[in-house]
Amino acid sequence: MRYLTIALTKGRLADKTLELFRKVGIASAGADDKETRKLIFTNEEMKVRFFLAKGTDVPTYVAYGAADIGIVGRDTILEEGRKIYEVLDLGYGKCRMCICGPLSAKEILNSGAEFRVATKYPNIAKDYFHNRKHQTVEIIKMNGSIELAPIVGLSEVICDIVETGTTLKENGLHVLEEVCDLSARVVVNQVSMKMENERITELIRKLMEALNED
Ligand code: PRP
Repeated sequence: MRYLTIALTKGRLADKTLELFRKVGIASAGADDKETRKLIFTNEEMKVRFFLAKGTDVPTYVAYGAADIGIVGRDTILEEGRKIYEVLDLGYGKCRMCICGPLSAKEILNSGAEFRVATKYPNIAKDYFHNRKHQTVEIIKMNGSIELAPIVGLSEVICDIVETGTTLKENGLHVLEEVCDLSARVVVNQVSMKMENERITELIRKLMEALNED
């Protein structure tokens, strides 16, 4: 039997995912050791191995078949636009993709005038403004601390993740429009889904069972 390989997102989603993996018996000892530099963990009994990767790379590993399965936020799935199956909503890592800015920017959003949108998610922003709202906007790709953009005058609004709303509040910004809901998802390689259907389906069933226990 070949190993099923699973790509996990490191960072915010990792703790919850490792907890879930412990419940279904995949996570081996040491995987949650914050000091370890080890990259890949193997469960010989289940013939499963998993590794922690940067979220934006998880859809790439899965699309190319380097991982059969991935656990990643819906924001990253939408932004990367890879050909992969999204099979399960894990229900944690819940947040929203929103258009935010100072209250004064509300007017410009519906004025028909062109404005600037700073974001880490140019594809999601493009899809929202061009395809859904039929608005012409200039999208500026940034890499972090997006809330700074409207404060220092780089853009009128931002398209960014809002979880607790604290970052917005502390910087005098507001949610002006909602783009979509987000949470952690299980994604599967399209070929693996056919070749390893039984094992993948069984694993998803176990994950669902563990989630329902909570
Ligand atoms: C994310 C997001 C917001 C913040 C929202 O940033 O881009 O800035 O979290 O969370 P809140 O609503 O709970 O305040 P992240 O911490 O990932 O860092 P970044 O600045 O590098 O994007």
